[in-house]
Amino acid sequence: MSKKVLVTGGAGYIGSHTIVELSKAGYKPVILDDFRNSDESVLKGLRGIIGRDIELLKGDVSNTALIQSYLRKEAVCGIIHFAANKAVGESVEKPLLYYQNNVEGLVSILKAASEEQNIPFVFSSSCTVYGEPKGQKEVSEQTAKTIPTSPYGFTKWLGEQIIEDLFHSNNQLRLMSLRYFNPIGAHESALIGELPIGKPNNLLPFITQTAAGIHEKLKIFGADYPTVDGTCVRDYIHVVDLAEAHVKALEFLLKQQSGCHEVVNIGTGKGSSVLEVVHAFEKVNNMALNYEFAPNRPGDVIEIYANVDYAEALLGWQAKRSINDAVRDAWRWEQSIRAKE
Ligand code: NAD
Ligand code: UD1
Repeated sequence: MSKKVLVTGGAGYIGSHTIVELSKAGYKPVILDDFRNSDESVLKGLRGIIGRDIELLKGDVSNTALIQSYLRKEAVCGIIHFAANKAVGESVEKPLLYYQNNVEGLVSILKAASEEQNIPFVFSSSCTVYGEPKGQKEVSEQTAKTIPTSPYGFTKWLGEQIIEDLFHSNNQLRLMSLRYFNPIGAHESALIGELPIGKPNNLLPFITQTAAGIHEKLKIFGADYPTVDGTCVRDYIHVVDLAEAHVKALEFLLKQQSGCHEVVNIGTGKGSSVLEVVHAFEKVNNMALNYEFAPNRPGDVIEIYANVDYAEALLGWQAKRSINDAVRDAWRWEQSIRAKE
């Protein structure tokens, strides 16, 4: 069997860590990316970790002809589809960009994958499909989805539905949607990590950039939520754990004799508040972080974390790394970026 895995968005944050884990597991990942939200320097970082160059197919995932011609030439045993735009705020300002890239991109790669051969396919979904869970903080795959509040969230909601509809049309296809909770951290080598372009919106990059002196203060959005300490709670998962989940997802699909569309939560099963993350960062990295409380951020979910029973039962996967590991690795990565400047 071919060991080639086509990884769209493989130069990005989660994609690059998945390239490492696929390589470690004996696969030959191929990056399909046009670097619209990443930098070619990631290839050097990957070489440093893996010890060889990773094959690159430079291009747009919406170019179905490019993918079809690649799949006609090369035997590929799986496709992992990360390529998408991911900034919630930007998606409100530029909805068409998000529907075009995230929906058209998914349709394009699914067309190529399902028409050429029955290639196992893994889709990057998000816990954003749950919205604000009603009356419960821990969500399982059975928890009702809600209509998302942003075009970005809607593209994930729609993405899962597109895959489900495709499966109904051909129940021999092997498909999986992974609902990621909040990925944080970086590879422990500090050779790859998250490269936010512009001012980050997500918590961890803002913390590390504040620690590096790029921002004066972290603003903690909201201090009077009905949570353990008044700040919002999320399920923060180390990006390497998340990357390992993709290898397990692919292996599960490769073993299937008949078709499936599985939807699986990928988190740690544990919630942490914003203050708990800040304090973990301070303690592990032995430094004080400048922060202040600020008004609530509109649209923020108060508290959500994953029920991960299905991931354990189906994939034999569970997160192994702690918040402490993640904040240590995130800070190492931030320092390595600054050292290159
Ligand atoms: P990222 O922006 O770091 O990586 C995405 C990569 O895809 C980038 O390298 C970008 O250049 C590439 N890309 C985008 N559109 C493309 C196109 N049309 N053709 C070719 N390449 C294209 O993002 P990430 O954080 O690694 O996220 C990966 C996936 O996971 C996305 O689908 C995202 O929506 C999803 N997700 C991310 C998070 C998160 O917090 N990071 C949470 C839930 C889901
Ligand atoms: C955001 C997205 C969500 C996406 C997820 C993972 C929104 C509304 N939702 O969610 O769709 O799936 O990222 O990429 O943007 N915080 C601060 N100060 C900051 C930054 C964040 O206090 O400067 C707080 C937030 O209020 C939140 C927590 O930190 O309580 C986590 O924020 P963030 O990293 O943006 O993730 P999500 O809100 O979960």
